[in-house]
Amino acid sequence: ELGQVKQTIVDKVELAGGIVEFKVRAPMVARSALAGQFVRVLAWDDGELIPLTLADWDAEAGTIDLVIQGMGTSTLLMNKMAIGDAFAGIAGPLGKASELHKYADDETVVFTAGGVGLPPVYPIARAHLELGNHVTLISGFRSANLLFWTEADERVGLLKAKYGDQLDVIYTSNDGTFGIKGFVTGPLEEMLKAGKVSKGRKIAEVITIGPPMMMRAVCDLTKPYGVKTVASLNSIMVDATGMCGACMVPVMIDGKLVRKHACIDGPEIDGHIIDWDKFLPRFGTFKVQEQRSREAHGL
Ligand code: FES
Repeated sequence: ELGQVKQTIVDKVELAGGIVEFKVRAPMVARSALAGQFVRVLAWDDGELIPLTLADWDAEAGTIDLVIQGMGTSTLLMNKMAIGDAFAGIAGPLGKASELHKYADDETVVFTAGGVGLPPVYPIARAHLELGNHVTLISGFRSANLLFWTEADERVGLLKAKYGDQLDVIYTSNDGTFGIKGFVTGPLEEMLKAGKVSKGRKIAEVITIGPPMMMRAVCDLTKPYGVKTVASLNSIMVDATGMCGACMVPVMIDGKLVRKHACIDGPEIDGHIIDWDKFLPRFGTFKVQEQRSREAHGL
């Protein structure tokens, strides 16, 4: 299955503008996937390798769910693929699974999800709930017209129906058209200032997935409070096997700059040791080429 077997799209749902959820047949990945892991998708034979954290999987049905935001040429073209079409190959599951700890009843695990950060958050939050942990999900969107997977929707709604008070969900939107106006950092900052608690529960750890700037803001916010914070990094990747260096993450350990690789050391990395000043510019590395490529494809 590593790269060569074609993986058929069995379902496709347009979640919001430019964001598409695919259900893909990938039985081997579905059988061994763990929360927090990702796959490397080759959409067509001479295409680009796209890393995507798993949004869900079903071992019995042999399917995995992937949510793709059309941004570059590859993801825009992938989102045009139809049910019955096949990706040229999906390799995985890759990366380390989320570290799961059982916390005390008066503690909560806080997730901050920004936009398409929500699908990769979903299975990790579910794994914490299954373990008996309390979860506080701060789910942020740019605007009400980009909402998906809210409590009215089957995903977060199913978790809420199953786990009730074990799950608190707080919504934010940048423009105030849904939930609290502002960024995911708003409610988080209130919790930290209130003594690192949410509704009387002590914050055990924060897990953040979303745009790099958002993850940085979350890590910067929690650092002075000493609250453990993990970022799941959607780095630029090529081989996804630790060889090419494309996904390099500069981290500071004991005052020394060390290179980690999101593909094999991550995707989850301690957000407080990441050297964000050096790391963030890497996301813009291919901006000019990406723009040219989009134009060449009329996208
Ligand atoms: Fe090549 Fe991680 S993607 S080293």
